[in-house]
Amino acid sequence: MTSLSRRKFINGALVAGTASVVSAGAGASVPPILKPAGSADSVATDEKFWHAVAQNYDVTNDVTNLENGYWGIMATPVLQEYQRLTAWVNRENTHFARWDLGKTYVGLREQVAGFLNVGADEIALTRGATEALQALIGGYNKLSPGDTVLYADLDYSEMKTAMRWLADRRGAVPVKVNFPEPTKNKSLTEKDILSFYQQSLDANPKTKLLLLTHLNNWTGLIIPVAKIAAMAKARGIDVILDAAHSVGQVDFDIEQLGCDFVGVNLHKWAGAPIGCGVVYINKEHVQDIDTYMAKSPGSNKVTARIDTGTVNMAAHMAIPKTLEFHNQIGTANKEARLRYLRSLWVDKARGMKGLTVLTPDDPAMVAGLTSFRLDGVTTTEANNALMKRLATEFGVLTTRRTGPATGDCIRVTPSFYNTPDDMMKLVDALKIITNEL
Ligand SMILES: Cc1ncc(COP(=O)(O)O)c(C=O)c1O
Repeated sequence: MTSLSRRKFINGALVAGTASVVSAGAGASVPPILKPAGSADSVATDEKFWHAVAQNYDVTNDVTNLENGYWGIMATPVLQEYQRLTAWVNRENTHFARWDLGKTYVGLREQVAGFLNVGADEIALTRGATEALQALIGGYNKLSPGDTVLYADLDYSEMKTAMRWLADRRGAVPVKVNFPEPTKNKSLTEKDILSFYQQSLDANPKTKLLLLTHLNNWTGLIIPVAKIAAMAKARGIDVILDAAHSVGQVDFDIEQLGCDFVGVNLHKWAGAPIGCGVVYINKEHVQDIDTYMAKSPGSNKVTARIDTGTVNMAAHMAIPKTLEFHNQIGTANKEARLRYLRSLWVDKARGMKGLTVLTPDDPAMVAGLTSFRLDGVTTTEANNALMKRLATEFGVLTTRRTGPATGDCIRVTPSFYNTPDDMMKLVDALKIITNEL
């Protein structure tokens, strides 16, 4: 391929579609999705539309998959683009990578920054949220020995480890605080979360750095990040935001949330190939994060804050197709659909004896992902057994989560291809299980 045609190819790959119909592309057998009219709440229950969406996902029939929180299955048009790019990158090899990769990444960063509503000079592409957040936590250089770094039981395991590591790296004092949890009779409110953070910060006046998780991986709880970040800022505390589950699942705007350091991934709810994440650093605060292993000291580029060597460029280059497909459905419709599917099982589960749903129903505090616990069933072994029983006896795939200080739980995470019948399958299983208690 000549340099010209190579560029054409790359530019073509970077142009997001604006049509109101998305087709599966050349050679694909998937039907187009007609963009729905009406409010997100009415789209949420439009089974004809979601059936059309589901036609774009090739999903196993071996089990009903209600465990879509690990990563998101790529839609077929994205998968095909990824396969095409993998073959193309492999064939072009360094003919492409040595000459055009830099330019390609400039275009990719611009497009992703546009999607996230931030500056292209404020982000770098990563392999995932872990890489992004570890670079932020490890690189944060405003700590003095004895400063407190605060995190919570509900933060993600690797980030908790990274916060603890700051003791060795910076002489900081890591402190873990435990979230309040709803009970059968008392839900959790935004006020509860705000006073939890207020009390935690009051009790730890030397706090300099706070880790927050926007949409929680263990329970599904969404916290009022903007208000907590404002509270932290007023005390001179910086916030690192873990938004691994936010992009593509819920309305998410970094500027509105008021956090200067954010890690996200695109391979969960936006539906990119595995290996697509983003690190964001507010351009006023780039110097607060060390350049990676002292590479390019003094650089003010976000891209100097992370270095992963040769990456899966085909995965990153499939991001434009990912965003094109995502935009055909729209975040608001995705969010409303997931919340609707969640309500189908949660509304029934709330009435079951011996079972507690661990997230409130307030739409500001939950989307698609929600966990439950059977009374007294708090160990990893018991929840593993329950997860296995749901899969083998009832054909419903969930996952056991170990994280909340109050004990393990079972997480239920529907996706865009799931149906109300899938949710009823879970409800039927839970009825039988709780009737045995
Ligand atoms: C809250 C949270 N943070 C970070 C991560 C890490 O994301 P990744 O594995 O894509 O790096 C996850 C993954 O599940 C997560 O749920």
